[in-house]
This record gives sequence, structure tokens and C-alpha cells, in this order.
Amino acid sequence: METQDFITLYAPATNDELGTIPACSQAQIDEMMAQATSVWPEWSQTTLETRSQLLKRWSANLRRDAENIAHLLSQEIAKAYADSYKEVIRTADLIDYVADDALRMNGEAYRGDQFPGGSRKKMAFSHFAPLGVVLAISPFNYPVNLAAAKIAPALMMGNSVIFKPATQGALSGVALVAALVEAGMPENLVQIATGRGSVIGDYIVQHSAVNMISFTGSVGIGRRISQLAGMIPQVHELGGKDAAIILDLDQPQRLVSELISGAFGYSGQRCTAIKRIFVLEPIADQLAALLTPAMAEITTGMPETNAMVTPLIDNGSADFVQGLIDDAIEKGAHVLFGNERQANFLAPTLLDHVTPDMRVAWEEPFGPVLPIIRVQSVEEAIRLNNESEFGLQASIFGSNIEDIFAIAPRLQVGTVNINGRSERGPDHFPFAGIKNSGMGTQGVRRSLESMSRQQMTVLNLK
Ligand code: NAP
Ligand code: G3H
Repeated sequence: METQDFITLYAPATNDELGTIPACSQAQIDEMMAQATSVWPEWSQTTLETRSQLLKRWSANLRRDAENIAHLLSQEIAKAYADSYKEVIRTADLIDYVADDALRMNGEAYRGDQFPGGSRKKMAFSHFAPLGVVLAISPFNYPVNLAAAKIAPALMMGNSVIFKPATQGALSGVALVAALVEAGMPENLVQIATGRGSVIGDYIVQHSAVNMISFTGSVGIGRRISQLAGMIPQVHELGGKDAAIILDLDQPQRLVSELISGAFGYSGQRCTAIKRIFVLEPIADQLAALLTPAMAEITTGMPETNAMVTPLIDNGSADFVQGLIDDAIEKGAHVLFGNERQANFLAPTLLDHVTPDMRVAWEEPFGPVLPIIRVQSVEEAIRLNNESEFGLQASIFGSNIEDIFAIAPRLQVGTVNINGRSERGPDHFPFAGIKNSGMGTQGVRRSLESMSRQQMTVLNLK
């Protein structure tokens, strides 16, 4: 009999051992895929009400277990406990919304005579049919929320799921699915394929049993998956380099609070984090003077203290962010605050006079560094925004709504936030990155649609 390999997981903040997960073999993945393939046709014959009730029991279990799951999540990915708890509750809310929204999805009806030469005797009806086996691959930074955002709509639309959690985050993913199993999930409807993406990733994404892939993660892995997976539907949520464009300082407190939480929440490890500021030169000194003291107010420390900035997910990530900071300083950026490091903990860092020849002007740090780029005009800000390989979100801060509305449609991004930080939620808003930030649209209704297909039934009358 095959022996099972395991991966041991440690807490990024303390290096304490947290537990182990199976490193699935190809044979185990084959077995899961076969079970997933056999189970969805029966599941797809259940009523929407049955599926919705399963999801409601799942969300109730998550609310009941929220403290325990949040504790695990907080340790596993070094996210502040309070934010981890919010993630679990947000996930329960999301699942409830998915369960309700799918009940309200209607197909369409067409008359044949709407088309030239068409007949009144022909009519067509569409309904949402499942795709089959959905492969859900989630990232480390929201191991519960971004996993459920794939699993819940897949189940509501009648699919089965192979869930590949991020390795760092897999224990939280296992807890998420345990709550679903306890809610009465039919056997094998959702199965967890744990293991390093670098080892099992290529195999699962090319598996012939997979009918759809929903991926959230980095651009490099996303691109690889899209090249390998072939002709199956895919939705990708990838990285970002979200800009905040500052037109004036009319609401200084609100502006600073949005910029700080937007850039440094969960140590900048959010796809939607503010990752660069474009500020008009005449107000740049004032902005720097407003932001610098606010940097000192950012709480730092261990996840259980609810600090905003905690140790990063691993040393490699800290090395990468430090490399961006060092490159910028070497090329003339001014450090207004921070640039201190201890192992994988990086102090929140504010850089001024960042210029386009510096890597930090373009690359996604996924860490606590905020570059200020001074621009001579709004046109320059728009141009620099649009020269990015990414196109997730942007923010515009200012008091003249007409100016803002003139700029917003010119920004090549999925979402423009006015006088607010970039962020995904609430989770029913359509959420899509363009360019290297993604492919397809998420957000509850769009996720439900992406995990189903419109099947037509055509009636021919005598
Ligand atoms: P990542 O390294 O790309 O990993 C994402 C997932 O892909 C993990 O489950 C990983 O497994 C798996 N994986 C790795 N190699 C694979 C392969 N060859 N084939 C298939 N799967 C593979 O990303 P991350 O570090 O977890 O997350 C950070 C990135 O995600 C950032 O770029 C961030 O902007 C992006 N993100 C985007 C959104 C969005 O909605 N746009 C949301 C959150 C995060 P292992 O953990 O085992 O390697
Ligand atoms: O990391 C990507 C998440 O989807 C961001 O969600 O904007 O609510 O933090 P958030």
C-alpha cells in the first residue's frame, strides 16, 4: 500500500508547529477526480432549495465555530485575530448571500419570430446547468473567504469541487470544509487536494476530469495554469498594483485614514492594497507631512495583539519586499518612515520621491511599503496608472466630482473607488481585474454565472 507523505505547517509569526496536511499523490488525486466526476450528476438533480439549505447550515456552523477557526487562521497566516474573525463572519455572510441569490436566478425565454424569417412556432428557454467538476485554487491571504467564494457558488450551481488550498492556509481550508461536512454535505462532493502547488499543480490543472478552474493567486501561476489547462472555462483573480490618485487634500483625516488602512491592512498582503500613490507635485509635501506622523500610529506586532502590520507570510516574501525598498533607496527614493526589518517582520515603510525607474513603482510588493510618486499633472498620473501590467482597482481622492468622473473611465482597471481605498467588498459587487490582474468576473452573481452554463431547450410547435 502507498505510504502517505505529509507537510508540516508552522506559524509565520512564531515558527510554532501548527499541524500537518497530506501531500497528495497523483494516485490520490486520480481517485478524488473519479469520485468528483461520479457525484455531481446526482447532486445536480437536487432542488435549489436543498442546496441552499446545505449552505445555510454550513454558514451557521461557521458562525458557531468562528472563534476557533479565526484563532487557527490568525496563527496560520499571521493575520490579526480581529481581522481573522471578521474573515470568518464575512464568509458566513457570503455563503448565505450565495444561497439566497442562486434561488433568484432565472433563465431566459426567446421567441423564434424575433429574428428575421423566424417562426412563431419555435421558442427557446434557457436555464443554468452545472459545468461538472470545478477546480478551486485559493491563495494564502484569505484562506477561508476566497475558498468559500469558489466552493459555495460551485455547489449552488450543481457542481462538485476539488479544492486545492494554498499550502500555508490549508489548515484553515480544512476547517472550512469540516464545517460543510458537518452540515450534511453528500460524500465526496467537495474534496481537498492538499500538497505543494509546485508539486501537484501542473497535474491537477491538466487533469482530464476538471471541467472548470477558478484560480486566485499570483500572475505567474495564473499564466502557467491558463497555458496548461486547455479548453475549459477559467476565472482568474490575480495580482494588482492599485494606485491612489490624490487631486487635493480637502478631507485630510479621511484621506490619511483610507491611505493607511488601504496600504498597510494585513501588512499590505491584499490583492487590493493601495500599492502606489500618485500625487500632484504642488500638494506632495503637504501629503507627505500628513502621512508621516500617521505612519507612527500604525500598530505593529503579533497577530493576537490585533496589530495592523504583523510578520509577513515567510522570509522569502520579506526578502522580496526589502529588495524593492533597497532598489528604490539606491536610485534616490527618500525613506519617510520605516525600513526596519527583523526576519520576516518588516516595519511599515513610506517612500517619497519614487520615480518610474524604480521597481517599487511597478512591481507588486505584497508587503508593507507605500511609494509616493510625484506627478506634474493628472495626465501623467493616468498615463503611469495605465502603463502598469496590472489593472485591478484604483482610487481617486478629491473634492471635484466632475473632475473625478472625467478621470475614472480613463483608468484601465476593473474598479475605480472615489474617495475610498481600493477593496473587493462587499462581496456581491462584481469584481474583475483586467490585463494581468485577471480573467473573468467574480462577485456573488457573476461567480454563480461563471460556474454554470446557459443550456437552451428549444420547443417546436406543430
Ligand atoms: P500563489 O503563489 O500564486 O498561490 C496561489 C495558489 O496556487 C496556492 O494554492 C498555490 O499552492 C497554488 N499553486 C502554486 N503553484 C501552482 C501550480 N503550478 N499550479 C496550480 N496551482 C499552483 O499566490 P499566493 O502567494 O498564495 O497569493 C498572493 C497573490 O495572490 C498576490 O499576487 C495577490 O495579489 C494575489 N491575489 C489576488 C486576488 C484577487 O482577487 N485578484 C486575491 C487574493 C490574492 P501552494 O500554496 O501549495 O504553492
Ligand atoms: O486579496 C484579495 C482580496 O480579495 C481582497 O479583499 O479588499 O476585502 O481586503 P479585500
